Amino acid sequence: MAESKANTKKLYIKTYGCQMNVYDSERMAEALGASGYEQTQSPEGADMILLNTCHIREKAAEKIYSELGRYKGLKAENPALKIGVAGCVAQAEGQEIMRRQPLVDLVVGPQAYHRLPDLLARVNAGKKALDTDFPPEDKFEHLPVRPQAKRRPAAFLTVQEGCDKFCAFCVVPYTRGAEVSRPPARILAEARALVARGVREITLLGQNVNAYHGAGAGGDWSLARLIRALSEIDGLARIRFTTSHPNDMGDDLIAAHGDCEKLMPYLHLPVQSGSDRILKRMNRSHTAESYLKLIERIRAARPDILLSGDFIVGFPEETDADFQATMDLIRAVGYGQAYSFKYSTRPGTPAAERDQVDEAVKTERLHTLQALISTQQRAAQDRMVGKTVSVLFERAGREAGQMVGKSEHLHAVHVDAPDLPVGSLRKVKIIASNSNSLAGVLLPE
Ligand code: 5AD
Ligand code: SF4
Repeated sequence: MAESKANTKKLYIKTYGCQMNVYDSERMAEALGASGYEQTQSPEGADMILLNTCHIREKAAEKIYSELGRYKGLKAENPALKIGVAGCVAQAEGQEIMRRQPLVDLVVGPQAYHRLPDLLARVNAGKKALDTDFPPEDKFEHLPVRPQAKRRPAAFLTVQEGCDKFCAFCVVPYTRGAEVSRPPARILAEARALVARGVREITLLGQNVNAYHGAGAGGDWSLARLIRALSEIDGLARIRFTTSHPNDMGDDLIAAHGDCEKLMPYLHLPVQSGSDRILKRMNRSHTAESYLKLIERIRAARPDILLSGDFIVGFPEETDADFQATMDLIRAVGYGQAYSFKYSTRPGTPAAERDQVDEAVKTERLHTLQALISTQQRAAQDRMVGKTVSVLFERAGREAGQMVGKSEHLHAVHVDAPDLPVGSLRKVKIIASNSNSLAGVLLPE
C-alpha cells in the first residue's frame, strides 16, 4: 500500500452480500482513489464510510440499519465524516434510508457507481446526494482503474449484470435491473490488465452469468466463447464463473468443461428446490428431472466436476413431501458444497403475498438439509486425501510458516511452506482432510 500523504482522505468500505459486491467495492475504491481517498481497515478515523449492501434476504437488509446506528458516535466526534450507502439496499430503499437514518449523506445504486465522484462533490458542498438511476452508459467504462496497483492472485471480473428470470422469491431483477452483458473486448482488456498486475485466476461474475451474450466480433458471444478467448491469455492459469441458471447451461459451455484446460472443475448451479410443484410456484421453468439430466451431461463432459448449489427451504406452501423431494434431489446429485437459506419475504416480489410456512418448520428443515449437505461436503473433501492437486496460494495461514491456497475444486489447502510467495501455483499432495480445509505437502517443482 502507498504511503499515506497528509492530504489523502481515509475511506472505509464494508461489503455485504455476493461476490459482485466485492468486485464493485474494489472498483469504487479505485474510483475514489482517483479523488484522493485511500482505503483503511476500520471505520474509526475514516473521512468517509461506505456500506456496500445486500437486499437478498430480510436479515441482510436489517443489518445495514444497525450498522449505521453504530456510526452515530463517530459522526458526533467528526462532523466532517461522510456516510454513504451503496449496493442493493440503496437501490431498493434509497429514500427510506435517508428518512430512517439522517446520518446518511449519500445513497448510490449499483448502476450509478461511476457518478460517485460527482455525488461526493455534492456531499462535500454540504448537500445530500441520492442516485438510484439505471443510466444507459456502461458504468465500468467510466470507473477508472489504477494500473499500478498489485492485485491478489485470484480476482473477480463482472461480465454480466441483472436478471430477466423473475423467480418469485427474488429481488435481483428489481435491484440490479435487466440482464446486461459487457462487450467481450472490454472484458478481455480488463482480464489482460489484471494478469499484468499479478492475477492468475479470474472468476467471471454475473447474476445469470451463463446467460452472457456480449456483442463482439462476429456477433453475440456466449460465455463459452468468452472463456475460450480468455484462456488464450498467457499467464492466466485458471478461469471460473458464477452464478449460473440451469436453463442457460448451453451445449458449448458443457463442452468447455470437458476440453478447456483453464476452466476449473467446479460449478455452482442453484436448483432451489427438488419439488416440481414448488419449482413451478417459484417460476423456475425447470423441473427436478431436467436438472438431474443436466447434471448427468455435465458430469459426462467432466467426471470429476465438483457441484455446488443454492437451496431455499420453507418457500410459501412448501409441504413435508416437497421438502423430502429436495432432500432426494440432494442425495441424487451429491454436492461438494452448497448454500441454503430459509425463505425470506421480500417486499414487491410475488411470493411475498402467499401463505407463509411457519418459522419453526423452516428452521427444522434448514437444519436437516444442512446436515445432509455437510456430510456430502465432508465426503467430497475426504476423497481428495492421497491425491495430487494443483493449488494457487493466496495468503499466509494462521499458524507460523503456513500458506493457504485453493485447489482446482475450490478446496482450501494448507501447507507448511514459509518461503512460498503468494501467487505461486504448485502441485500439492493432500495428506489430511480437516473440518473446512485440506492439509498437504508441497511437491518439488
Ligand atoms: N429468501 C431466501 N433465499 C433467497 N435467495 C434469493 N432470494 C431469497 C429469498 N427471498 C437465495 C437463492 C439464491 C441465493 C443468491 O439467495 O437461493 O440463489
Ligand atoms: Fe445481494 Fe443480490 Fe445484490 Fe448481490 S445482487 S448484493 S446477492 S441482492
